Amino acid sequence: PTIRRIDYQPLAWTVQSVDLHFTLDAKATVVRNRMHCERRGAGPLVLMAEGLTRVSLTVDGVEVAETALRETDTGLEIDLGERDTALVEVVTQINPSANTELSGLYHSGGGLYTQCEAEGFRRITCFPDRPDVMARFTVTLEADMAAFPVLLSNGNLVDSGDLDGGRHFAIWEDPFPKPSYLFALVAGDLVVLERTEKTRSGREVLLQVWVEDGNLDRADHAMDSLVHSMRWDEKTFGLELDLDRYMIVAVSDFNMGAMENKGLNIFNAKFVLAKPDTATDVDYEHIESVVAHEYFHNWTGNRVTCQDWFQLTLKEGLTVFRDQQFSADMLAAAGGESARAVKRIEDVRMLRTAQFPEDAGPMAHPIRPDQYQAIDNFYTATVYEKGAEVIRMLHTLLGAEGFRNGMDLYFSYHDGQAVTCDDFVEAMSEANGVDLDQFMRWYSQRGTPRLLAEGRYDAAARQYTLTLTQQRPDGDEALHMPVALGLIGPKGADLPLTLAGETSAGATTRLIELKDTSTTLVFEGIDAEPVPSLLRGFSAPVILELTEDDRRLAFRMAHDSDPFNRWDAAQRFMVRVILAMTADAAKGVLPQVPDAFMTAFGALLHNEKLDPAYRAVALTLPAEAYLLEQMTPADPVALRRALIVLMRSIGERLGDSWLGLDARLSVAGEYRYHPTDAGRRALRNLGQRYLCAAGVAKGVERALARATGEGHMTDRFGALAALVHSPASAEAATALADFERRFAKDALVMDKWFAIQAGAWRWIDSAEPALARIEALMSHPAFSLSNPNKIYALFGAYFRANPAEFHRADGAGYRFWADRIRDLNKRNPQVASRMARVLENWRRLTPAQQALAREQIEALVGEKDLSPDVREVLEKALGKT
Ligand code: ARG
Ligand code: ZN
Repeated sequence: PTIRRIDYQPLAWTVQSVDLHFTLDAKATVVRNRMHCERRGAGPLVLMAEGLTRVSLTVDGVEVAETALRETDTGLEIDLGERDTALVEVVTQINPSANTELSGLYHSGGGLYTQCEAEGFRRITCFPDRPDVMARFTVTLEADMAAFPVLLSNGNLVDSGDLDGGRHFAIWEDPFPKPSYLFALVAGDLVVLERTEKTRSGREVLLQVWVEDGNLDRADHAMDSLVHSMRWDEKTFGLELDLDRYMIVAVSDFNMGAMENKGLNIFNAKFVLAKPDTATDVDYEHIESVVAHEYFHNWTGNRVTCQDWFQLTLKEGLTVFRDQQFSADMLAAAGGESARAVKRIEDVRMLRTAQFPEDAGPMAHPIRPDQYQAIDNFYTATVYEKGAEVIRMLHTLLGAEGFRNGMDLYFSYHDGQAVTCDDFVEAMSEANGVDLDQFMRWYSQRGTPRLLAEGRYDAAARQYTLTLTQQRPDGDEALHMPVALGLIGPKGADLPLTLAGETSAGATTRLIELKDTSTTLVFEGIDAEPVPSLLRGFSAPVILELTEDDRRLAFRMAHDSDPFNRWDAAQRFMVRVILAMTADAAKGVLPQVPDAFMTAFGALLHNEKLDPAYRAVALTLPAEAYLLEQMTPADPVALRRALIVLMRSIGERLGDSWLGLDARLSVAGEYRYHPTDAGRRALRNLGQRYLCAAGVAKGVERALARATGEGHMTDRFGALAALVHSPASAEAATALADFERRFAKDALVMDKWFAIQAGAWRWIDSAEPALARIEALMSHPAFSLSNPNKIYALFGAYFRANPAEFHRADGAGYRFWADRIRDLNKRNPQVASRMARVLENWRRLTPAQQALAREQIEALVGEKDLSPDVREVLEKALGKT
């Protein structure tokens, strides 16, 4: 069924407080739930329930009569007559071991864990499982002491002790009312890393990171990240931790990244565990940002939550923006402003690779969707990443101080409430005295807007005229769009900008607020034709269309003072070159790399004034997914041929430079996670990729030594990736075998090993296709179909990171995909649906590939037992809904 935003209605009954009692057992857990309910309007008490065995149900101590009870598709309704309050008690039994969906209460590695967002709580007990029902929770956990020595839930521990028969209990009380999606419990044999800190106001708080025995030496970075997050939120937004205790728990089986349950965050282990031998710089960076993200949710998400799930971006877009700002500040503090720019570039790269294709396909939706079938399908790049860009635009328009004032007002109005995106934007508007009505359109329009730019120089009048035109995909109304821009003079320096009618020259970068479909700006006192640098810092999530020849792009690659745009100029040049080369490859012509491009690329590489971290992002080719997005039709096989030629010539023609850098960039001393060191390692690893791609003997030799040596994981994995993505197949095989031998028992590290092979390119036609390797790896002892990380590593990397192999001409990739979806659909619909989405843009492929893909999608849609999650994705892909 389709759920619509406009149908929102408050429930007739709410829950004031709830007492939960769990008798925990891996196979038969009994949940006694006492709800103190209160009437808010006319109608029955509505409870959601899914897959529960109901043992008993009473109201005010009396068993509910059949006639007062109605079973519905989503649960049950109880007629409570004329009462205004009621004590409703329901006892249910569940089987955590049979819960392969990993939603609700489930079993993992001997422990019990919960995941309730969005609708998992109804799989634990009957409850009005909606975010606008906020109740105070008291939770009693009772379990066998040997099997489950640690018992955790939200809030503060108020009592614990032993019981007869080798059992024990713990009672947890959360002082803050919360929606059921923030409920959590953990029971298992875990060890803890602890630290006490004082909050800004001087309260002592206990911080804990719980992990499986044997992983305690991998918890420090998560703990440090937590402390840094606390400090940052105090300083930046005046927001303090509100509990006496804050817990992070790592679990191996988890559908997504992590979950912000009140005071008890549960994390996918890969976003907690790190030590130099097992985690790369990128892993360290991700851990820091996910820990921060979940911590920041405590205010933006938990203290103020969503009225309904259509408002998801209210908490997610805002919290992603907050974690991006936090990481940028952390990076800048340690590595300078250039490190901040690198972070912005990485965030935009991700938006363009993941969100732009989503917004151009059948799953396109506004950051606040108007309808859905399965809410779990809407935890998307659009809601999260584009949502964060929308918040960033507010920050740009209002300034840091104005934004902070808006946040303060938002909390003063809505602390403890479940609200909407309108409430947030209204607080921003009121605090700053600005009209944001037009800005609200960002919440209701889907698709990536285009910004067309045209410049004209008039030498006689010394004027430069710039016309900016918005183009919205659905022909919607004009957006309120902040555009930061500058003009670069012929010598490469920014010009001070004077708009017609202004008396004195202003800054070199100006923020223009577009509100109309078309805006013309006239700059005066311009002595020679300038080069425009538009949308600096990516000031709005749009596609900028500006005609620039190779000379201009090379000029901006060398001179644009905005580090984001300088990077973007390189990306644009790369896109142009790669698309031309791909067109040749598709015609069977051997693609050539233009000299002008190699010169501009080499100039960036040799520019020692630029930090290594910056050069690493600037010299990385655009992602294949982003490139395919620019091609009509998308031809992954031809694209791959072009990329192989390009990578080879970058390695060959700049071989000596890369080898020289490799020696110069080595980092002395013990590994530390630091942006300066990480930048050096990143550029070195990138050079290694190009050198190995070109088969430069010295490069291959060094890579093999590093991949099999005694260094840390960033070097080891960088070298392994370079070899696997190269024609040096013998060395790649040696390195893979060495890696497997070392890490066979380390699940998280083995995920890297699976993923790198699933993503492997074929450098010579006779090489083994990725699919053959993947099929063999499915029976590897370290692989498991019930672990989401393994699915994402082996299948996800193939479907998403290896388009040329997945979209093979014989359609075997699609048949393999359909078989995986069929199987995963039965085990875990959320994971299945994420994997199903990899073919949603099948209509962009060549006609032959379209036919092969369609056949598999249609076959799947024809099946009876498809979960609503997978069905929604596939039907949309076929244009059926
Ligand atoms: N709120 C979590 C986070 O962003 C993600 C929960 C995802 N839930 C889901 N059903 N996909 O940190
Ligand atoms: Zn989140």
